[in-house]
Amino acid sequence: MNCRISDKPLYKFMDFGDMPLGNGFLNEKDFNSEHFYKMSIGFCPESKMVQLLEQPDASRMFHDHYAFFTGSSNKMSHHFQKHASSIHNNYLCTNDASIIEIGCNDGTFLEYFSKNNIKHLGVDPSENVVEHARSKGVICHCDFFSTKSSCVIEEIHGKADVITAANVICHIPDFLDVLSAANKLLKRDGVFIFEEPYLGDVVQKVSYDQFYDEHVYMFSALSVNYAANQCGLELINVEHLETHGGSMRYNLAKKSARPIEQSVSNCIHNELNIGLDKIETFQKFNNNCEISKQKLMEILDSLKSKSIPVVGYAATSKSTTVTQYCGITSDHMNYICDTTPIKQGKFSPGAHIPIKSYQFYKENLPDYALLFAWNHRDEIMVKEKEFTQQNGKWIQYVPSVSIA
Ligand code: TYD
Repeated sequence: MNCRISDKPLYKFMDFGDMPLGNGFLNEKDFNSEHFYKMSIGFCPESKMVQLLEQPDASRMFHDHYAFFTGSSNKMSHHFQKHASSIHNNYLCTNDASIIEIGCNDGTFLEYFSKNNIKHLGVDPSENVVEHARSKGVICHCDFFSTKSSCVIEEIHGKADVITAANVICHIPDFLDVLSAANKLLKRDGVFIFEEPYLGDVVQKVSYDQFYDEHVYMFSALSVNYAANQCGLELINVEHLETHGGSMRYNLAKKSARPIEQSVSNCIHNELNIGLDKIETFQKFNNNCEISKQKLMEILDSLKSKSIPVVGYAATSKSTTVTQYCGITSDHMNYICDTTPIKQGKFSPGAHIPIKSYQFYKENLPDYALLFAWNHRDEIMVKEKEFTQQNGKWIQYVPSVSIA
C-alpha cells in the first residue's frame, strides 16, 4: 500500500489478523463471499504517524450504499451546527466567502451554509449519502477529494476561504495528496480545518476499536505537523474535542500566512510527555488491548454459559473490530440493535450477528447490553433510562472493562 508520509520504515506493533470491512453489513446470501483483509498497525519513528499497514480498495468501502449517516446521532448534529456557526462568524463574513467540505456525507454540516446562502460545495464519493445532502439543498460534487479532482472542484467552485472535513481525512490513504489539493484550493489566507479521532485518546483509553479499514491513520499533532510541512502548510491551532471518544481539530494554513497559536506547542509538548513519539508506547498499548480483550471475554463467556441474553447496542464500525479481535459470536450475543435503516435486517461483518431495529430492542429488552457506541455514552444513557431502571446492565470496554 502506497500511503506513507515518510519514506522511512513502519514498525508493526499490533496484528489483528483477518478482518472484514467495518461497515460491511451483509445479507445471509453473501456470507461465503465476504471480503477479509489482514489488519495490522504500524508506527513510523520519523513522521510519528500511526497507521494501518494494509487497507482494502477504496471502492469496497465508499460506494453507492455507504452505511454511515452523520445525522444518526443528535449530539453529532448539534456539534456540527455549533462548528458551522463558529466558522461562519470567524472566517466567512465577506460577501464572496466560500467553504468546501471534504466528505460532506448526508449534508448535516453544510446544510447550515445552504440555509444561510453562503457559497459552499460538498465533495463525497458515495452517491447515496450525496443524494441525501442534495435533498437538503446542499450543493455537492460526487468524487474522491484529490489533486486530480481539485481541478474540477476549482472550476465548479473556485478557491475557498475554508476547507473542512470531519472524520474523513484519516480515511484517505494519500494524505500528502489531500494536503496538496487543499493548499491548491485555499485562498491566500484560507484555513483547512479537520477533526479526526485522536491518537492520544486511543492510547490512553485503550480504544483499539478506532482501528478499522476506513481509519488508515490515527493522527497526532506531531504527525499532522510533519505532513503539513511537506505540502506548503503548517499547523496553526489545535483543539481537543470530546466527539468520537476523543478527537483533535487541526487548523492548517499556508506557511507564514497566519500566526501559529500556543495550542500547537502545548499539544506537542503533551504528546512528547505521553510518549506518542516512541515505539515502546505502542507496544505497551498492544499489551493493554490484550488485557482488555481477556476481561471482556471472561464476562461474555460467563453470561453465555448461563444462557443470559446479551445484545450489542449500536452496530458501529468500531463494533466490527471488537467482535473480530475478541472472538465475539452470535453465541455470545442475540442481536445488535441499531437506528440506521440500511443496517437493519442484515448481519454484522465477520461475526454475522443479526442487526435489529431500535423498536425491536425496545420490545425485547435484554438483561445485558454491550455498549458498542461508547463514544455516544451520555446521549444513550439519557435515552435508555428505562433499560437501566428495569435493572438492565451495561457492559463497557472503554476506557476499561466494566459492568454497571
Ligand atoms: P458511531 O460511533 O458514529 O459509529 P462508527 O464506529 O461507525 O463511526 O455510531 C454511529 C452508529 O451507531 C450508527 O450505526 C447508529 C448507531 N447508533 C444507535 O443505534 N443508537 C444511538 O443512540 C446512537 C447514538 C448511535
